[in-house]
Amino acid sequence: MDLFQPEPADLRSLRENAPVHRDERTGMWLVSRYDDVRAVLADPRRFRPDNALTAVTPIPGPVLRVLARAGFSLPPTLANNGTDTHAALRRLVSRFLTPARVAALGPRIAELTADRLDRLDRLDRLHRPDGLDRLDRTDGVGGRVDLHPTLARGLPAIVLLEAMGIRDVDVEALKAWSTASLELFWGDVAVERQHELARSAAAFHQWLTSRIKAADPEGDDLFGALRAQGVPVRDAAGLCYFLLIAGQETTTQLLCAALHAVLREDGLWSRLSEPGVAAACVEEVLRRDPPVSTWRRITAEPVTLAGVDVPAGEPLLLMLAGSGSDPDVFAEPERFCPARPDARKHLAFGFGRHFCLGAGLARLEAEVVLRETARRFPALRLASAEPPPMLGLLSFRAPLSVQVELGDQHDLAGGRPALQQFVRAGGVGQR
Ligand code: HEM
Repeated sequence: MDLFQPEPADLRSLRENAPVHRDERTGMWLVSRYDDVRAVLADPRRFRPDNALTAVTPIPGPVLRVLARAGFSLPPTLANNGTDTHAALRRLVSRFLTPARVAALGPRIAELTADRLDRLDRLDRLHRPDGLDRLDRTDGVGGRVDLHPTLARGLPAIVLLEAMGIRDVDVEALKAWSTASLELFWGDVAVERQHELARSAAAFHQWLTSRIKAADPEGDDLFGALRAQGVPVRDAAGLCYFLLIAGQETTTQLLCAALHAVLREDGLWSRLSEPGVAAACVEEVLRRDPPVSTWRRITAEPVTLAGVDVPAGEPLLLMLAGSGSDPDVFAEPERFCPARPDARKHLAFGFGRHFCLGAGLARLEAEVVLRETARRFPALRLASAEPPPMLGLLSFRAPLSVQVELGDQHDLAGGRPALQQFVRAGGVGQR
């Protein structure tokens, strides 16, 4: 089995034959059944989160020096923090992500979605004066358009920055830094590539450090809040480094996974505007195709898990994707079934003390993007039945592209009137 590109059959085989299994290549213990994954997440004392952000491919000395010269470090802050400082840092960040603040972002997410759909629409119309030739001349791939760059890539970054009150950011630079960092820490990477990625991660960290140092402690943004609370700059930079990556790359991945999964199901696209359907689809994607496909813990003492003895200090790889497809918990787990009553039991956002702080925001973004896109382009369809190329990092797995044809039937009313309708109906305010 390739840990970086596991197939559902691999996960099934692990659950059935070796639910707690030491992988020789990586030295990690793979934990794949729902009950075991949940039990580990629920017990941060015996299963510590210290290794959550450790590079999967060890970083050799010369590359470490690139990082060290830039003052790069990832001290324990949130996801990798099993110490007493975790609670206060978590409280500080959660102030920016209260249910009320997240709900208030709904109209803005709809607006950003509408902007992107407008652009797609204009491009499409521009290139088919005779009503026949669709997008071909700009895309050059036979009328196809990829919803990854056009819809899913930048939107979550803009939403996250606005949620955190952070202004004046080059979103393209943030995306380049964050994709490089994901690959550096979770990829199966050769050393020359590590050098390149480390330079990017170092530049990101330096940028964060200078923004934090310059922040106004009286200000309303995350940088200012960290200063006001007296968080040391090194810790603040480490926290922001994780948050500005985890808070948007994962959501881009979720958007791609959700668009792809729904479009693959016969007749589901046209039902996304029905109450509750888009949200239920998002939950089903998180259960079956979670973008964060694995997460790590380390044993603090010798433990017995599913009858297997694991010594102290051993890294565990929790197969979140495997847990969401466990037939002991979810009936016919490989079927995409938005009506499933228990889908929200999935562990895609973790569980317990480190449960994802951005779960509500990610859910809302995916729901709004799905619904608005389906409303605007009701005849949109996948351009190919072939499986898409997948991002294959140890903990991140999602389609790298969502190639679609927009179809003939556009909603000619455009995005704005429906946006008003959406806001009036209180679709997001009621969450
Ligand atoms: C689809 C999108 C997302 C997925 C699948 C996801 C998944 C996860 C997972 C698996 C964890 C580890 C949980 C654990 O150790 O128990 C986590 C932690 C975290 N996530 Fe997310 N996440 C997503 C989006 C976001 C967003 C949008 C934000 C911020 C706005 C965010 C912020 C965080 C933070 C701060 C933590 C660490 C919490 C702590 O240690 O106390 N995530 N996330």
